[in-house]
Amino acid sequence: MEIFSWWAGDEGPALEALIDIYKAQNPDVELINATVTGGSGVNAKAVLKTRMLGGEPPDSFQVHAGQELIGTWVKADRMEDLTPLFKEQGWMDSFPKGLIKNIGTDKGIWSVPVNIHRSNVVWYIPANIEKWGIKVPTSWDEFFAIAPKLQEKGVVPLALAQNWTANHLWESVALASLGADNWDALWAGKLAFDSPEGVKAWELFGKVLEYANKDASSLSWQQATDMVVDGRAAFNVMGDWAAGYMSTTKKMAPGTDFGWAASFGTSGEFMFLADSFGLPKGAKNRDNALAWLKVLGSREGSDAFNPLKGSTSARLDSDLSLYNDYGKSAAADLGKDRIVGSLAHGVTANEGFMNDFASVMEMFLKSRNAQMAGKATQQIAAKNGIGK
Ligand code: GAL
Repeated sequence: MEIFSWWAGDEGPALEALIDIYKAQNPDVELINATVTGGSGVNAKAVLKTRMLGGEPPDSFQVHAGQELIGTWVKADRMEDLTPLFKEQGWMDSFPKGLIKNIGTDKGIWSVPVNIHRSNVVWYIPANIEKWGIKVPTSWDEFFAIAPKLQEKGVVPLALAQNWTANHLWESVALASLGADNWDALWAGKLAFDSPEGVKAWELFGKVLEYANKDASSLSWQQATDMVVDGRAAFNVMGDWAAGYMSTTKKMAPGTDFGWAASFGTSGEFMFLADSFGLPKGAKNRDNALAWLKVLGSREGSDAFNPLKGSTSARLDSDLSLYNDYGKSAAADLGKDRIVGSLAHGVTANEGFMNDFASVMEMFLKSRNAQMAGKATQQIAAKNGIGK
């Protein structure tokens, strides 16, 4: 039975915990853990596409809840309906209704969620913040006020990595600029990307980029986190897999060795994404894959995976005593914050849009032309049926 994901290397330990449970329950199955490295699946998704279109699907693969699943693979009729599995396992009440909407259509439920990650988080090292005599900003204006002071000390104000992390930063900046209602309106087709509000978000993003490291495009997301950890940079906006990396791989203690806050200007807002696994039509080892999905959806699986991953459980009944202080605080925020979907990780837009958006981003990184980026985004939104 072959599973397919981008969780290799530093991203591997949480997946290994699930594999251990599967192996204990299914000792006779040979599990092939196929991975293609590259944050946010930039490389894995391209390989997956080739395999799916070539009629060689893995038995189960990682896919984000939301439009990456629904607007891509479900739309292309490549997935099996998992409603019978959900009913059999009693999962209809185990997951929040809102999340089931992100993995379902009126025709079925199409994947099993393993977590809830938060996208809009800024990471820092408390001891360094104190050493530099600054406060953690709560808005981008406060950040702009302290950023030059950091630069004078030879500290990069904001660590950035390869281009997908620019998309990642963009969504947090755009959320701060637009607010949650207008963010939602963009994806519902009710606010144009080239409206004054849409263009303003690109302008703010351009200003933010002025305080990022110039070698960003050659770095992995972990290397951008490392810049913060080593004190070369002050802040990094990254999803909470960074908490997993710092606590699981780097053995740092949340709260003391590393700190976090909602990315500037987004306090009270929780930009979510969820990793999930589905069952493609034509899977060669269907029964073994169903057994895999059972592990993923179980309370035991979820509470083995998420404390290592930095995410919170997608289930409503998780055992919070197993989670560290970051995990507990994320779970608390999830319960009280305004929830919005992530673009960079599959919730709000399909793969067609995401591929085109990568080109828009590349163009913006070179030109820094907000008007043009707003217009181009509106064009690709129309082309890829956003809000339809
Ligand atoms: C996200 C994924 C996370 C993490 C991250 C970095 O898209 O949902 O689980 O793997 O990419 O690669």
